[in-house]
Amino acid sequence: MPESGLIRVPGRVNLIGEHVDYHNLSVLPMALDRRIKIEWQALPEPRIDASSGSLDPRSFRIDQPLEPYPAGDWGNYVKAAANAALWKWKLPRGASLRISADLPPAAGLSSSSALLTACTLALLQANGISATFEELMEVLPEGEYFVGTRGGGMDHAAVLAARTGHALLIDFAPARATPIPMPAGWAFLVAHSLTHAEKSAAVREEYNERRWAGTRGLQALGYSTFRDALAAESVASLRAKAAPLPVRDRECFLHVAEEAARVHQAVDAMRAADHLRFGQLLNDSHTSLRHQLRISTPSLDRLTQAARDSGALGARLTGAGFGGCAVVFCLEPQLPAVRAGIEARFYNGPAGDHILEARPSAGALELMPTTA
Ligand code: GLA
Repeated sequence: MPESGLIRVPGRVNLIGEHVDYHNLSVLPMALDRRIKIEWQALPEPRIDASSGSLDPRSFRIDQPLEPYPAGDWGNYVKAAANAALWKWKLPRGASLRISADLPPAAGLSSSSALLTACTLALLQANGISATFEELMEVLPEGEYFVGTRGGGMDHAAVLAARTGHALLIDFAPARATPIPMPAGWAFLVAHSLTHAEKSAAVREEYNERRWAGTRGLQALGYSTFRDALAAESVASLRAKAAPLPVRDRECFLHVAEEAARVHQAVDAMRAADHLRFGQLLNDSHTSLRHQLRISTPSLDRLTQAARDSGALGARLTGAGFGGCAVVFCLEPQLPAVRAGIEARFYNGPAGDHILEARPSAGALELMPTTA
């Protein structure tokens, strides 16, 4: 059994498929080359010692029921990881975890899920366990509920299974990851809207409200899953039937049904290297997130418009919304001009770390030494 090791888990950016994962519909993210890193050392007893930069270190036993720290404490991600791993595996050994990152926190790039995933992988390795993607997907999304966020499984699947040079088509129930090769010359930027997507109670409620409204719309049409609805009827027919529904239920329902169709169209466009079509789908997604799901903000709208005005083929908010980042798509030769245009139009000057180039990078499983 290894006594020490290194785990690297990237952040992710979602290309398309927003607010559909929790309805078990497919999404198309990719991993960034920005990561959480954990240097771990096994401990002979079931205890975790975790440190991260200048934050107060956290230490707790894992052979007794885990009580969360007060809300907002960073140690809850470490406890959530231990808790999730313990649902499925016996962990007689503990670990000392030294955590560092070049992935910006609270930017909608999945730093929290990456941290949770990294801690879980480190603890499993310290116990000589090499878990599969499917096994990890059984515990990680549920595991994050310990910290109070109730998202879907996109983030964990993306940060685990992404491949260098590929976007990742993720299906749910059962979780399955299919790498889609990124066409040569396609380029992406992730740009921050300068408003924060806080995981506050208020934003969490807004997020959940979208979920319940979409589900109510679905049920009103007599279906229990979106997959059943989309298998039985065209989007046009669902749209016609949804017309009499209460407005929020109808809008959220339609966003989900249409976005699900866009994900598959985007995969087709990527496979055909059809950049115009792909860009249009990103723009359509943003329009729906703005006007139907209503999770955009004025600054995300201005940012995505600045990107289009600067020559981007497509731009949309990415992640949970209510602030955070936009993903911007163009062809490589246009990248410098698009970047400069966004800086001039949106940031009024050099954007520094607010813009990063998103190259399709390796997920945690690809980064893991195979002998571990
Ligand atoms: C958050 C959640 C994801 C997903 C997105 C919206 O990032 O963590 O599971 O629901 O929002 O697509």
